[in-house]
Amino acid sequence: MSTLDSQKRVLSGMRPTGQLHLGHYHGVLKNWVQLQNDYECFFFVADWHALTTHYASPLALEEFVTDMVIDWLAAGVDPAKATVFVQSRVPEHAELHLLLSMMTPLGWLERVPTYKDQQEKLKDKDLETYGFLGYPLLQSADILIYRAGYVPVGADQVAHVELTREVARRFNHLYGREHNYEELAQAAIKKMGKKPQKEFVAFKTAFQQEGNQQALEQGQALVREQQNLSQSDRERLLGYLEGSGKIILAEPQALLTPASKMLGLDGQKMSKSYGNTIRLRESVDDVVNKIRTMPTDPARVRRTDPGNPERCPVWNMHEVYSDEATKAWVQQGCRSAGIGCIECKKPVSDAIAAELAPMQARAREYEQNKDEVRRIIVQGSEKARVHAAKTLQDVRQVMGLAYSD
Ligand code: TRP
Ligand code: SF4
Repeated sequence: MSTLDSQKRVLSGMRPTGQLHLGHYHGVLKNWVQLQNDYECFFFVADWHALTTHYASPLALEEFVTDMVIDWLAAGVDPAKATVFVQSRVPEHAELHLLLSMMTPLGWLERVPTYKDQQEKLKDKDLETYGFLGYPLLQSADILIYRAGYVPVGADQVAHVELTREVARRFNHLYGREHNYEELAQAAIKKMGKKPQKEFVAFKTAFQQEGNQQALEQGQALVREQQNLSQSDRERLLGYLEGSGKIILAEPQALLTPASKMLGLDGQKMSKSYGNTIRLRESVDDVVNKIRTMPTDPARVRRTDPGNPERCPVWNMHEVYSDEATKAWVQQGCRSAGIGCIECKKPVSDAIAAELAPMQARAREYEQNKDEVRRIIVQGSEKARVHAAKTLQDVRQVMGLAYSD
């Protein structure tokens, strides 16, 4: 697949954190499962990223990776549709990271908002390291190496995709100009039919001289339609159309994942470190128990005290799981002390148990067949590697390193 087709490609990664919980499902996985039907998806375990913050106390990485991938599969990520792989099994990411580091201004990395934020937040760790500063650039390499058009991320990661775009632009600017670029572009134009040749030149002029955006898009569509052009020629012409050099690395767009309504048992963000999670593989008994002991509106001390759902984390869960009738029943019953909290919680634990049942059935199969999980990872990584190697080859060539191939 060429740069031109990259718009339909999605890439996203997650740090290996072991078993996942409902926060991950509602915040990320549900979205991935949708995307895999409409896009060519690459989902990977960002194990090197985990080391940027956990280098001093290595995690039980192998177990974390396997557990997380089992939960992806349980949630419905389908290896027949999406490529599932592990970052460290595709060492090309590291080489591209190194090469990009040569041309990335230090200030760009120092200004990434997560840099200072995370150092503040994770005060117990020494994050004055080269690896930690460079981690958004490693992320850029993760994205650019697949020429991904879209990167589904949460709001906290949008700045990293923005950095990636800048890095791609700078890269193309520095290395996209072949010495005989003009000649090659002209030769590529001649490979098209008479009519498209004329149209191409007209679109190019309209865009470059009059800033006609529509002409740019028409020109791009025209180039895309040309069956008899090589990938290289198409990339060349795309750049030529815009007046830039050849586009080697495609600029990705962030696909902002809407913030999930799913909060933790205590009403804070659901997170392992807050101890307020329901794991995807939580047993039904534990789900029921956790919901039963969830805090409610503190004003409802006795069954006869009216309450306010807005002050109750159980209400958050009704917002995620309940239909309008049930929600009206909660609002009315809580405020009038017409229902008790135990009663109110019942539809929530039922809904969670029902949501988790098919995932747990799938998870059990994979737990009993870890070789199959390993096979999925190995095959996915091999497939990813083919794409990564291709981009890296282009990068090596324009940076003058092709002799090493
Ligand atoms: N940095 C992301 C996180 O901490 C994980 C990640 C690494 C990623 N590489 C990526 C996400 C590439 C999207 C694309 O959550
Ligand atoms: Fe919360 Fe429901 Fe109890 Fe009201 S009735 S306090 S919403 S659990």
